[in-house]
Amino acid sequence: MFKKIFLWAFDLYKKHNMEQYYLQGKAWGRKDHNEDIVRAMDLVSDRHYRRCLDVGAGLGHYSEYAAKICDEVVATDISSVAIGWAQNRLRHFKNIRFEVKNLRDASASWGGFDLIILAEVLYYLGDERFPVDFKKLLRRITDLVQEKGRILLVNYVSPGRNEEQLRSYVNDFVKMGLSLEKNETIKVGQKTFLAAVLRK
Ligand SMILES: C[S@@+](CC[C@H](N)C(=O)[O-])C[C@H]1O[C@@H](n2cnc3c(N)ncnc32)[C@H](O)[C@@H]1O
Repeated sequence: MFKKIFLWAFDLYKKHNMEQYYLQGKAWGRKDHNEDIVRAMDLVSDRHYRRCLDVGAGLGHYSEYAAKICDEVVATDISSVAIGWAQNRLRHFKNIRFEVKNLRDASASWGGFDLIILAEVLYYLGDERFPVDFKKLLRRITDLVQEKGRILLVNYVSPGRNEEQLRSYVNDFVKMGLSLEKNETIKVGQKTFLAAVLRK
C-alpha cells in the first residue's frame, strides 16, 4: 500500500515537471522533420500493422509516422497538456486516437497491439529506484504485444548516460520471451540514439 502511494506521488511529481516543460512551449527539440524518428521508424516499416500503441507520445511525432503504416494508432501520455497539443497538431489524422494514460497502469484492458513504441519514456518510470515494480511493468507491456507483434524501443544516449539502461531493458524483454530482431545505433549530427526491435 505504502509503495503504491509512493509510486503515485513519484508519477505525479514527474508529470508536474513535464507539464511545466510543455507549458513553456518546449517540445523536446522536436521539429516538423525528425531524422532520428524517420530512421527508427524505418526499422519497423517493412510491414503493415493493425493497432499501434505509442507510449509517452509527447507531441505525437512517432504517432505521426506510425499512422502511415498502421490502421490505428493509440497515442498515450501521462500529460494531458502533451496530449492536447498532439491532438491539435495531428487533427487531420483520422486513424490516431489520443488518450491520457499512465504507462504504469498498463493492463490487459488496454487491448492487444501488434506494434508498441517506447521512445524516450521508460527511464521516467524509476527503473533504478523500483526495479521489482519496473520488471512487473515490463511483463505487463509484453503481455500487450500480440503474437508476431513488435516493440520498438528508442533511447537518446549521451556519453555514459542511458546506454546501459537501454541494453538492460532489451535484456529484460528478451528474458520475458521476446526475440531481439534489430539493434541499431542511429547517429544524427552530434546525437546518438539506440534503437531495438523486439518481436513476440
Ligand atoms: C522525452 S518525451 C518523449 C516524447 C516522444 N516519445 C518523442 O520521442 O518525441 C517523454 C514523454 O513521456 C511521457 N511520460 C513520462 N512518464 C510517463 C508515464 N508514466 N506514462 C506515460 N507517459 C509518460 C512524458 O509526459 C513525455 O511526454
